[in-house]
Amino acid sequence: METLYTFLLLAVGSALPYLAASPKASLLYPYGKDQGDSVNPKADDGNSPEIFIKTSFSFYGKKYDSLFANNNGVVSFGKNVSQYTPDPFPLDDAVPFVAPYWADVDNDIAGDIFWRQTQDPGLLSQFTADISRYFPVISFTPIWMFIATWEQVAYFGSASDKVNTFQAVLATDGEISFIMLNYADIQWTTGIASEGDPATGLGGIPAQAGFDCGDKKNYYNIPGSRTPEIINIGNTTNVGEPGRWVFQVDLLFIGAPTATSDCLVK
Ligand SMILES: *[C@@H]1O[C@H](CO)[C@@H](O)[C@H](O)[C@H]1NC(C)=O
Ligand SMILES: *[C@@H]1O[C@H](CO)[C@@H](O)[C@H](O)[C@H]1NC(C)=O
Repeated sequence: METLYTFLLLAVGSALPYLAASPKASLLYPYGKDQGDSVNPKADDGNSPEIFIKTSFSFYGKKYDSLFANNNGVVSFGKNVSQYTPDPFPLDDAVPFVAPYWADVDNDIAGDIFWRQTQDPGLLSQFTADISRYFPVISFTPIWMFIATWEQVAYFGSASDKVNTFQAVLATDGEISFIMLNYADIQWTTGIASEGDPATGLGGIPAQAGFDCGDKKNYYNIPGSRTPEIINIGNTTNVGEPGRWVFQVDLLFIGAPTATSDCLVK
C-alpha cells in the first residue's frame, strides 16, 4: 500500500509540470523523441527531407506517395514549401497541402518540429475511436498515420517568449483519408517579415489554417484564417472539442462545406 502511494505521488508530481507547460497537451497524439520521431533541422523556412510514405494518401481524389513537414506550419504533398507569409487560398503555385497553422515559424529561435509515420495498433484504434465519436455514420479503420507536431515554436524576428504548439495528424486506410488538426497552445499569429509586431507576434498578415488541393480552385479555410481572430483557433472546432478540427479529405468533405467538388489536378 505504502509503495502504491509513493508511486502515485511520484506519477502525479511528474505529470504536473508537463501539463502546466502545455495547456491542452491532452489534445495531442503522442509525439517526441521518445516516440521515435524525427526532428527537422534548425533552419528558418526549412523543412524535413522528402518523406516517402508507406501507404499512398488520397487527397482530393489524387494519391500521393511522399510528403514534407515544412517548418512554417504546412504538410505538403510531393514538394516542399518554404513560403513564410500565407497567401490566400486558393493558391496559385499549385502545391497541394494541409496547413495546420501556416505562418513564419523560426525554430532557430525556439521550438522543434517532430514527425513520424506510424502503424502502431494503439494509435490506429485511438484514431478509429475519435472518428466514430465525431462522425457516427462513418466506419473508418486506418492502417497508417502521419503525426507532425510543432512544439513551442517561435516566430521569425521574435522579441518575445511567445510560442505555438500544434499538430497535424493524417490517417488513411489506403482509400479513405482524414486529417486532424490539434491546437494545444497558440500565442502568436505573425512573423515580422509578414508585417507582424516583433514584441507581440500579432498584426500584419496573420496565420492561415486549412487545406488547398493545388488546382487553383478547391480549398477549405478554417474560419479566422489570415485575420487576427486566428489567435483563438485553440477555442474553435468542427467536432465539438475546442482546439480540434477534423476533415475527411479524399473525396467527400465532411465539415468542409466549401470544398464539394473533386480537385481538378490530375
Ligand atoms: C525546399 O525549398 C527550397 C527553397 O525553395 C529549396 O532550395 C530546397 O532545395 C528545397 N528542399 C527540398 C528538400 O526539396
Ligand atoms: C479560449 O477562451 C478563453 C476565454 O475566453 C481564454 O481565456 C483562452 O485564452 C482562450 N484559449 C485559446 C487557446 O485561445
